[in-house]
Amino acid sequence: MFSHPHSRPSRFIFLALLLFTAILFPVGQTHAAAPDPAWSSKGMASTAHPLATAAAQKVLEDGGNAVDAALAAIYTLDVVTPYSEGLGGGEFWVVHWAKDGSVITIDGRESAPAAAKQNMYLDTAGAVIPGLSTYGPLAGGVPGSVAAREEALKRYGSMKRSRIMKDAISAADKGFILTPSQGAIFEAAGPYFQQYETSGAVMFKSDTTTWSVGDRFIQKDLASTLKRIAKDGGDEFYRGETAEEFARYMQEVGGIITAQDLADYTPIVREPIHGEYRGYDIYSMPPPSSGGIHLVQILNILEEWNLEQFDRYSARYYHHLGEAMEAAFADRSHFLGDPAFVNVPTEGLTSKEYAVELRSSINSLWERKVRGPGDPRMYMENPPDSLIKPSHTSHLSVIDQWGNMVALTTSVNTHFGSKVIVGSNGFFLNNTMDDFSIQPGHPNAFGLIGEQANAIRPEKRPLSSMTPTLVLKDGKPFMAIGAAGGPRIITSTLQSVVNVIDFGADIQEAISDPRIHHQWSPDYLFIDPEISPDCAKELYRLGHRVVRYDLGSVVQGVMIDPETGLYFGAADPRAGGTAAGVR
Ligand code: DON
Repeated sequence: MFSHPHSRPSRFIFLALLLFTAILFPVGQTHAAAPDPAWSSKGMASTAHPLATAAAQKVLEDGGNAVDAALAAIYTLDVVTPYSEGLGGGEFWVVHWAKDGSVITIDGRESAPAAAKQNMYLDTAGAVIPGLSTYGPLAGGVPGSVAAREEALKRYGSMKRSRIMKDAISAADKGFILTPSQGAIFEAAGPYFQQYETSGAVMFKSDTTTWSVGDRFIQKDLASTLKRIAKDGGDEFYRGETAEEFARYMQEVGGIITAQDLADYTPIVREPIHGEYRGYDIYSMPPPSSGGIHLVQILNILEEWNLEQFDRYSARYYHHLGEAMEAAFADRSHFLGDPAFVNVPTEGLTSKEYAVELRSSINSLWERKVRGPGDPRMYMENPPDSLIKPSHTSHLSVIDQWGNMVALTTSVNTHFGSKVIVGSNGFFLNNTMDDFSIQPGHPNAFGLIGEQANAIRPEKRPLSSMTPTLVLKDGKPFMAIGAAGGPRIITSTLQSVVNVIDFGADIQEAISDPRIHHQWSPDYLFIDPEISPDCAKELYRLGHRVVRYDLGSVVQGVMIDPETGLYFGAADPRAGGTAAGVR
């Protein structure tokens, strides 16, 4: 068996708010009944923006398949949610192809440039230089999104690229109206756009005032890039005019991504992580994502418990969930990394036998033996509040009339990635290099820590939590699901799946329900504010360091009811997405 890294770091650099706001500011149990999910008899898509959902819906209605529809949606999201993802980011696809029953994944994760160095974000004394891995041109990895899309199109696409990208191009060319929440996101990032002329030119309406709610946001440069890609595909992005401008601009602003890095980028088709949970087959993303391994690992731990015995809003249930999550995330920090560089013990981590061992230690911790150090910061007048609210990254799910399924999660990492628009190409460069462990034990933007397995190396892909997931029952399509939200991606996807399989929730209810999250370090059990104060107190009594905090992760899911054959879909009410079926 593998050694289990149970010792917790003593420092909690990351982290915020308030142990037990529950006790200080009691709030009633408020999880209101969720509305009915969208339904259809022929196919369904759920995305993070109504225009992207509409693009997918039209493709499905025009006879396109799930991959065509996912492509139409994702290119539209590049335009309408540039803070979440874009041409300058990376992504993971999981595809079920009904004709042959296969499930594959496509890894379009960013890779470190050839000139990247392990200590590139440290000063000469070995200290982390604040902001260098999150802001500016050095924060970006070589983008993989377009390459992954080209692979998906080549393998499964039934429509021309120009048709698929039509709505995206039109949204960039003619613009779209910004919603209040989008206006707020643009305004919050405003100060960052001042340093890069190219960012300011697109994002500022006048001087240093960003476009905002009610404005029509037009992106002519992005429209031109999309048109070039529609015509010449991946060649254009990685070797054409777009690549030339990319490399030129990187040199101009001190970035290290070169034309050679772009030309060398390749998407990787990988076997999915496969697990079985209560008779359902779970397929999800393998390394360099940690998502699939830990989703299956946590499900394996949960499987022996009869979850139905619990009230699903009870402290006892959340305790079991939280403990299973904690065990998995402890392993994440130690074992996971790009499999081209480290030997990830996937088989062991996802084995039922290992789950037995982990579960036994959880049982003995029913009253958690080790309570971590307290958090005196909650008694300070200005407690640190560095928790990132994760309204970036985007997950979309599609099932078509033939039973093909796509789960696709895409990202530029944090809001607008590096905040740098790449020359006249009109898209933001990601800041996914921050997903590496830039120094052992140093928390990334999401408070995750790592070790050598996720250290920076040239051409290595940083560890991810993105968890695009497909569920099949008796070989038939059942569900496509996934989330945005940093490490909370894994735990919110997990809880949505368990809500359907164990508690018989419909897909909307499953996604709308309050959630919890534990990521081992820092040692807190985060619970959504809708979870009752009494429940929070009970969790505290059980030994958890509880933080009531708006987790903010965003799930999009679609499924087929095996009994009726009807398609159902839901978007997370925590963000502005929609689900829509073929009419
Ligand atoms: O790959 C990852 O795990 C992160 N780059 C995902 C970032 C994310 O989800 C941002 N938050 N919503």
